[in-house]
Amino acid sequence: MGASVRLTDAPDWLYLLREFDALYRYGSAGGSAAIRGHRKRVRDRLSAAMAKNPAVLSNGGETKPVTAHFARALDLGERGAMQGMARALREVRDSLTWEYGYEKLSKSLAQKYAYCEVLGPKGPVQCDNLILGFVLFAPSTTYPQHSHSDIEESYISIAGAWSENNAAVFAPGSLILNRSGDEHRITTGDRDPCLLAYAWCGPAARLAAPDMKLTATRKARARS
Ligand SMILES: [Fe+2]
Repeated sequence: MGASVRLTDAPDWLYLLREFDALYRYGSAGGSAAIRGHRKRVRDRLSAAMAKNPAVLSNGGETKPVTAHFARALDLGERGAMQGMARALREVRDSLTWEYGYEKLSKSLAQKYAYCEVLGPKGPVQCDNLILGFVLFAPSTTYPQHSHSDIEESYISIAGAWSENNAAVFAPGSLILNRSGDEHRITTGDRDPCLLAYAWCGPAARLAAPDMKLTATRKARARS
């Protein structure tokens, strides 16, 4: 696909974004004003982006070692509460560009983690003030403690079990909000991979050049 392809010409991407819209529009905020505000910001930005019928760029598609677990994650997702999202994601699987955020990634994490964006400044669907994507973890992964400046981040569980800051175990359908500066560390269950959808809201300049503070190595930059 070239730059001339628009969202309405790419129904697989359009329907995937409709799944995100439904999650942030119809799900519950669980009584939290902070989560309610975040959900509204995500859906307002997504609606505005979709109304422009944005360009859909082909980033070529790229795998990482952890994507060997992707088929299992989709299969689990298609059997659970997030089946609509998992099915829509399956339709674009060959076009996803899986990447790493860390400048310096440990060998072990390089085998067990990657993310792909579906909407954002770099595409594939273009938007300057919101990033939507997915992060995939192999079983028994620890994603090191970090925080994001000027960005609020939410995760919605699609498949697998995971925990943040040892505070709870999250199952498909759960939404977790990390506000700007919140320190967070993720661990995943030992039996199956874990697939999370995520949304990043922030100023356009920050989303174009995200600054992530890894608590252990302050110079590292990464996303999610
Ligand atoms: Fe994060």
